[in-house]
Amino acid sequence: MRRFSAAYLSRTRAGMWADSIAALSDLDLPNRRRILDVGCGTGELTQVLAAASQSENTNAAPARVVGLDADRSLLDVAQSETDLEYAQGDATALPFADDAFDLVVCQALLINLPKPAAALEEFARVSSDLVATIEPNNAHVGVDSTVEAEQRLEQTARDAFVRGVNTDVSIGDAVPSLFDSIGLQEISTARYHHEKRTEPPYSSAELSDAAAKASGSGLDDHATELRRGLDTETAPTSYDELRSQWREMGRSIVEQMQDSSYRRVEVVPFDVTVGRVPSDT
Ligand SMILES: C[S@@+](CC[C@H](N)C(=O)[O-])C[C@H]1O[C@@H](n2cnc3c(N)ncnc32)[C@H](O)[C@@H]1O
Repeated sequence: MRRFSAAYLSRTRAGMWADSIAALSDLDLPNRRRILDVGCGTGELTQVLAAASQSENTNAAPARVVGLDADRSLLDVAQSETDLEYAQGDATALPFADDAFDLVVCQALLINLPKPAAALEEFARVSSDLVATIEPNNAHVGVDSTVEAEQRLEQTARDAFVRGVNTDVSIGDAVPSLFDSIGLQEISTARYHHEKRTEPPYSSAELSDAAAKASGSGLDDHATELRRGLDTETAPTSYDELRSQWREMGRSIVEQMQDSSYRRVEVVPFDVTVGRVPSDT
């Protein structure tokens, strides 16, 4: 299982869904009573689900919202931040009874699973009504930066990661047919663009991000996949060469931050797919 640090998850999810939850409208959150967020990590989406599912009828009991992840250390961080319910478990063998929830959802989980269909079948088993996935489309990330090399080097790293990873990180387009293949009905899709802006005054997370680029440690988190994608005869550059250019880029970012001239915009498209469990299963 690919592991993620709590710092990476909170940095990449910061501000996500804060601008608009319109793309989540088919999850019908205000009418959900029992929601499971699978592969919840540090629980950023779990909190969004909990807030959006609180009934407009204040007399109704709040929805039960549970976050599940395989990684205990991430759940500990999630639990320390809210009083929501968290459970440890495997997405392909969920520790819940059939129909225990009326919505089972995941965000950025399928792209990390060798057999995403096996997880979706489990989602359909434990949901009495809706199944939803929110997956980033890594092939279409856009970056604009005042450091000229950043756009090019990030594209090289992303392409190498896609080649070197052993799961389907471009699964987005295939999700509706996966839903269809396991018998989900009324399948709908929507797209959310998660825009992350870096501009002065820089937050401490943005300063640490720049320092991680300058030291190469950010790239090293994905060294296995990047080496697999780059250390081949046909690759445009080697991992070591990319890392050296990456560190130089990081130093330019740190310099621009020192005179407040650094600006960066990244847009990550996320595809939201929703399907309904047929009533006779
Ligand atoms: C990219 S992170 C996404 C976290 C969170 N959903 C978010 O969007 O911030 C993927 C998460 O899936 C978890 N994960 C990976 N394989 C899993 C599995 N088989 N069962 C449960 N969780 C898993 C990882 O521990 C990690 O927290």
